[in-house]
Amino acid sequence: MESREIEADLTEVLVTEQQIRDKLAELARQIEADYEGRDILLVGVLKGAVMVMADLARELRPHVTMDWMAVSSYGMGTQSSGVVRILKDLDTDLTGRHVLIVEDIIDSGLTLSWLRGNLESRGAASVEICALLRKPDAAKVEVDVRYLGFDIPNQFVVGYGLDYAERYRNLQDVAILAPHVYS
Ligand code: XMP
Ligand code: MG
Repeated sequence: MESREIEADLTEVLVTEQQIRDKLAELARQIEADYEGRDILLVGVLKGAVMVMADLARELRPHVTMDWMAVSSYGMGTQSSGVVRILKDLDTDLTGRHVLIVEDIIDSGLTLSWLRGNLESRGAASVEICALLRKPDAAKVEVDVRYLGFDIPNQFVVGYGLDYAERYRNLQDVAILAPHVYS
């Protein structure tokens, strides 16, 4: 496969880099208002949320701290297993902290509903979720997302941090991956 020809593997751009930028600015203003006077701990979920974290954090004017977790629910395929495993844990003690989870995408919702419960059980003062994308038609459990970027159709998407088999994360936009790539 030619790594230079990413476009050939895509069927449609769903969300452009500019749309993402504008949306993150809008969400940042809401977050600033909601958390006025409180320190925020942004918890990014590796690896998909790296781009969202980088851009959202730089939109936020007050001090924030950042930490990272890696969890696995997927393996190399496109279907959620429902089994969540911590691959890399936080370095931060959550006691009394206001945690804002930063995620790339909510698909079945299984990963985030598990993660929220896990972080709440560590004594955080609050746990909220910011997710760039959500697939409403794929939901298996309801997840209460305080800050949401875009609802998208139930198709496998890549770009802006989202991968298929570790590729496409460096695409600027979010695009639908052509079925010929994974079938
Ligand atoms: P669940 O189903 O637990 O899934 O909400 C959340 C995680 O699954 C990955 N995911 C995707 N990754 N394109 C991707 O590149 C997609 O369309 C997609 N849907 C789910 C992602 O890692 C997310 O954190
Ligand atoms: Mg992923």
